[in-house]
Amino acid sequence: MTNTRVSRGTEVPEFPVTRPDSRPFDPDETYTRLRAEAPVTPVSCPAGMDAWLVSRYDDIRSVLADPRMSSRGAGSMHMLPSYDMRDPLPGSMIQLDGEEHTRLRRLLIGEFTVRRMEALRPYIQKIADQQVDAMLAGSSADLVRDFALPIPSLVICELLGVPYDDHAAFQRDSEVLMGFEADAATRDAASRRLEHHLGELIEQRLVEPRDDLLSRLIARGNATERPLTVQELTALGVLLLVAGHETTANMMTLSTVALLQSPERRAALLGAPDAAGTAVEELLRYVSVIQFGLFRYATEDVTVGGTTVQAGEWVVAAIPSGNRDESVFAAPDTIDLGRQARRHLAFGFGAHQCIGQQLARIQLQVALTTLLRRVPGLRLARPLEPSEFKRNDIVYGLRSMPVVW
Ligand code: HEM
Repeated sequence: MTNTRVSRGTEVPEFPVTRPDSRPFDPDETYTRLRAEAPVTPVSCPAGMDAWLVSRYDDIRSVLADPRMSSRGAGSMHMLPSYDMRDPLPGSMIQLDGEEHTRLRRLLIGEFTVRRMEALRPYIQKIADQQVDAMLAGSSADLVRDFALPIPSLVICELLGVPYDDHAAFQRDSEVLMGFEADAATRDAASRRLEHHLGELIEQRLVEPRDDLLSRLIARGNATERPLTVQELTALGVLLLVAGHETTANMMTLSTVALLQSPERRAALLGAPDAAGTAVEELLRYVSVIQFGLFRYATEDVTVGGTTVQAGEWVVAAIPSGNRDESVFAAPDTIDLGRQARRHLAFGFGAHQCIGQQLARIQLQVALTTLLRRVPGLRLARPLEPSEFKRNDIVYGLRSMPVVW
């Protein structure tokens, strides 16, 4: 699926555009210029293909909502320098189109209703409290390791029905898989262990269903003309583990950094009862953890922002740029925790829009308010170095975040 036509023989700027060292929360200024002057512009990706970089909010939404823009093979990792392993999510729902995608999404969506997710809030509160208790037993912590990574991992394991004793192994492997810190062989092994482990769990649920997501998925699939295969169930399980882990964890740490930058922000988060909900939307907009964007492949000629993208060409919907589009968000580079930012693009848009978004919101609300309320003296142990930010990873984040209180 490589193409070279986009460049039309001229020199093409390189993608991805990483964040500047001096302003770790802001997308590169190039995006401001592109939105004004060249909102659909050719770029060259590290994997060798050219693509159209789409930087305006409205154009991004139109790309992501267009059924002619395929997600097949669009796993972002193909485009990035750190990509050096087999696709961790082969054939998974996130890379399917049309009816094939709808079939799986329809089976899964009932598991992610607001009501079901709200029912998890007490469990999320319990584990957030446990993590804080463990932190407070000492005098310093690494917020990534001791707080942000364990919470989403425990939540997803609970959701899937992973037995408590297996949590640690699942957590370790999903961290390795999405962390992009380990070498290819290590990540590959982690991916295989996860698949094997989930496969075993699914076989058990097929024989002896329980009150958990996997058992309900099996039952729902069995009620259709095409029951889910063990392979499909495994792919869905791995997708949930991978899609919901690093994203949520990195949002937790980066949001905490932003909140610790000013007492007003802390106060805004802990203010009125619904303040945390509003604040989390603004943090999702401001941070854009899916930091390079979402990739699509045109199956037909499609006009985007006045430019014709031809069948066979790649498109990058630059989420961080859309979230800073001045025509949609006033003073977009300012963090305003009272802003109504819910139409941000952090969870994507269209047919693949994040299915776990409500779960992510609740985890962020609970984790951030619990942390700031229970550890009022929380602060960075030392200023963060630029090298501690994961500039080249699909999911933006911090490698570690030493804190004291
Ligand atoms: C802050 C946290 C999160 C962010 C920023 C995020 C972001 C996204 C984005 C941008 C997409 C769209 C991908 C595309 O269009 O190609 C997506 C899809 C998805 N997300 Fe999330 N996500 C988060 C948390 C979660 C959680 C907690 C779960 C579940 C446990 C989850 C499960 C999924 C799944 C299954 C899809 C694929 C949906 C489909 O293909 O129809 N995500 N996410």
